Amino acid sequence: MSIAPELARALAECRHLVVFTGAGVSAESGIPTFRDALSGLWQRFDPAELATPEAFMRDPALVWGWYEWRRMRVLQSAPNPAHLAIARLQQRLPRVTLVTQNVDDLHERAGSSGVLHLHGSLHQPRCVDCAAPFHDLDPQPAEPEGGRRLAPPHCRACGGLIRPGVVWFGESLPEQALQRAFDAAADCDLLLSVGTSGQVWPAAQVPQIARQSGARVLHVNPQAQALQAGEYALVGAAGEVLPSLLQRAFADR
Ligand code: OAD
Repeated sequence: MSIAPELARALAECRHLVVFTGAGVSAESGIPTFRDALSGLWQRFDPAELATPEAFMRDPALVWGWYEWRRMRVLQSAPNPAHLAIARLQQRLPRVTLVTQNVDDLHERAGSSGVLHLHGSLHQPRCVDCAAPFHDLDPQPAEPEGGRRLAPPHCRACGGLIRPGVVWFGESLPEQALQRAFDAAADCDLLLSVGTSGQVWPAAQVPQIARQSGARVLHVNPQAQALQAGEYALVGAAGEVLPSLLQRAFADR
């Protein structure tokens, strides 16, 4: 694909890069996004039944089974060229802050470190009552498509129910990770926004803060979108666009 030399240079020479990712970065690993018209999870499943604290208290087995199915899909997947390109950026550039809305661990498995998870993790369940982390998840859950009802385990410390370690609708984001993401966005000179519809707040503020603070914002997404001043787009799948961008940026360095 053709990459404008100006964008390749902006990446190669940037002082502080923020990479902000959403479900689209994991799409080529076989993990469904939320809002894509045919394959998005929220086309097939109702968030009010599965992704709120009320839903979990109403029917813990329904919710736990669904998240175990999602965790199984992640366990069966591998990082794709987009995750690998982002990990390479962390090695090539002086300062990179990686902020993700994703609850999978594919960035870490690609070699990235210090990932700020704004929406929690499928791999870090905790007790509803005492918040103690739960370390005994089944390493290979065998869940049917869409999940089945599955009673959640109980906390070893207080006996409370174990819940998925993700942020649900109506809940606050982890304060420290969010503040660090906002601070990085205010400080960076380039922000790559990869595979997100930018519809969920407050996470969607991260690229906005970067743009308002004078950074370039570069969107990588197969869907073209309306751009404001200071915004650019590379239209295509992240697993193709990011390796090409790196190739252009670092070819002769
Ligand atoms: P969405 O499903 O809203 O958006 C996914 C984006 O990825 C869309 O803009 C797609 O066009 C794009 N996309 C699809 N395939 C791609 C590819 N191969 N390469 C690059 N982009 C691709 O997912 P998010 O923006 O991540 O929240 O959604 C934000 C939050 O909404 C999620 O974290 C989740 C959900 O409800 C919680 O769970 C709290």
